[in-house]
Amino acid sequence: MVNEFEIKKQICEIGKRIYNRGMVAANDGNISVKISDNEYLCTPTGVSKGFMTPEYICKIDGQGNVLQANGNFRPSSEIKMHLRVYQQRPDVKAVVHAHPIYATSFAIAGIPLTQPIMPEAVIALGCVPIAEYGTPSTEEIPDAVEKYLPYFDAVLLANHGALSYSDSLLAAYHKMESVEFYAELLYHSRALGGPKEFSEDQVKRLYEIRRQFGMTGKHPANLCPNAKDGKVNCHSCGVPSCGQSGASNPLNNTSDADLIAEIAKKVIEAMNK
Ligand code: 13P
Repeated sequence: MVNEFEIKKQICEIGKRIYNRGMVAANDGNISVKISDNEYLCTPTGVSKGFMTPEYICKIDGQGNVLQANGNFRPSSEIKMHLRVYQQRPDVKAVVHAHPIYATSFAIAGIPLTQPIMPEAVIALGCVPIAEYGTPSTEEIPDAVEKYLPYFDAVLLANHGALSYSDSLLAAYHKMESVEFYAELLYHSRALGGPKEFSEDQVKRLYEIRRQFGMTGKHPANLCPNAKDGKVNCHSCGVPSCGQSGASNPLNNTSDADLIAEIAKKVIEAMNK
C-alpha cells in the first residue's frame, strides 16, 4: 500500500534539493511520481519547488485529469511531458525536470553530452542526447523527447533544460545530478584545452562494470549498433547515435534521430533473439 503522504514529503524534499543546488530558478522545474497504474503525484504549476509542503502536491490520472488538488494548486504545466515518459517507459516511477546551469547551457548551445570523460558518467548515463526545441506546456516537448525515451534515462531539452527519469524518485533526482556534474566537468575541461577522452577499450570496460552491477534503466551500453560487430563502445565510435559533438551532431537532426532509434531497435531485437 502506497503511503501518499510520505511520497508527497519526498517530492517536497527533492524540490528543496533542486532549488538549493541552483538547478532551478524561481518557480521553474517540476517533479512527478507514479503511485499506481493510473495515478500520479506531481508538483503544482507556478510555485517555487524549494518551498513546497505536502498539501501543494496534486494527484492526477494518466490523461492528466486532476484527481485531487488543494486550493488553487493545479498540476505542472509540463505534466504532458511527464506522462509521455510514463507511457513509453513502464519501468519508470519518477520524473524530474530542471534547468541546471551547465546542462542547460549545453542544451542552449546545441551540444549533446557524448564525450566519454569520467567513469561515473559513462557508467550511469552513457550519452545524453538533445531533444529538439518545443514550446513549453504543449505536446511539442513530449513529441520531441519520445524517440529518445526507449534508449536513454536522461535527455537535454533544446534551449530549455534537462529531463531525467528512473525507477524511484531518488534515482531520477540522482540522474539529474549526474547529468549536471557531467556537463560541468565537460564545460571546464573544454575551457582547459579539451578533455582527454577514454579509449574505446576503457569505455568497453566501464560498460562491462555497468552490466556486472546489473544496473536498471536504459543506456547506450545496451544498444550500441557496434555491438553487432563485437564492439561495445558507444562513445565517439562513428555511429550516429554515439559521440559526435557539436552542431553537426546527428542527435540534433530529427530524421537522423529517427534513423538512430530505428537502428537501435533492430539491434535490441537482434540481441534478444
Ligand atoms: P511548472 O511550474 O508549470 O511546473 O513549470 C515550470 C517549468 O520549469 C516549465 O518548464
